[in-house]
Amino acid sequence: MRRGSLKWPVFVGCVLPVLWLIGRGITGDLGANPIEEITHETGIWTFRFLLGTLAITPLCALTAWSRLMSVRRMVGLFAFFYACLHFSTYLVLDWFFDFEAIIDDVVNRRYITAGFIGFAMLIPLALTSTHAMLRRLGSRRWQQLHRLVYVSAIAGAAHFLWQEKADLQRPGIYIGCLALLLGIRVWQRARSRWRTRVSG
Ligand code: HEM
Repeated sequence: MRRGSLKWPVFVGCVLPVLWLIGRGITGDLGANPIEEITHETGIWTFRFLLGTLAITPLCALTAWSRLMSVRRMVGLFAFFYACLHFSTYLVLDWFFDFEAIIDDVVNRRYITAGFIGFAMLIPLALTSTHAMLRRLGSRRWQQLHRLVYVSAIAGAAHFLWQEKADLQRPGIYIGCLALLLGIRVWQRARSRWRTRVSG
């Protein structure tokens, strides 16, 4: 990483939530139900990192701060990292590899189905995140594949919304941010298509 690069500070910012969680675990500060607390913390950070990944392109366009683009892949990979921690908590601490019960849960509880879809969509993105895979797939196919991030974020939003029984304000705020980011992307795309048509 070059001097003055954004990568180090962003990397440190991205590992802080997990370090904080580990620290709380060591000091016995995870409350009465530590598994639930870990599930909630890793879940909310997955969603936050997905929002962060989606915010980078519009932020670059709006602020002309193009250096931000250099950390988009890292932020996206951290979304996957927190999703892996979140899913592992469910798989190991919640169900201890009881695959029959897990399949039953995924099939019968719609919020788990949505979470599972959100997680599954991130796997091909993480696997193809390298420059070598970008070259192998070609820019166009790679970009098409990476639109799965929108499916993942929307599935994550449904997962978040459907599990909240009483307080819809919290998921509402996060989902509002996602809707705003998706709206900006649609608008940017429509504007660039219109410009191409006018100039061509
Ligand atoms: C993109 C993928 C995912 C995202 C963005 C995500 C996000 C979230 C969020 C935001 C929460 C609520 C946190 C809070 O209230 O503080 C949550 C909770 C939870 N998630 Fe996920 N999640 C994902 C995938 C999964 C998967 C694959 C599973 C398991 C198959 C799962 C199981 C759970 C469970 C059991 C809870 C706690 C629900 C409760 O307390 O009733 N999530 N998740």
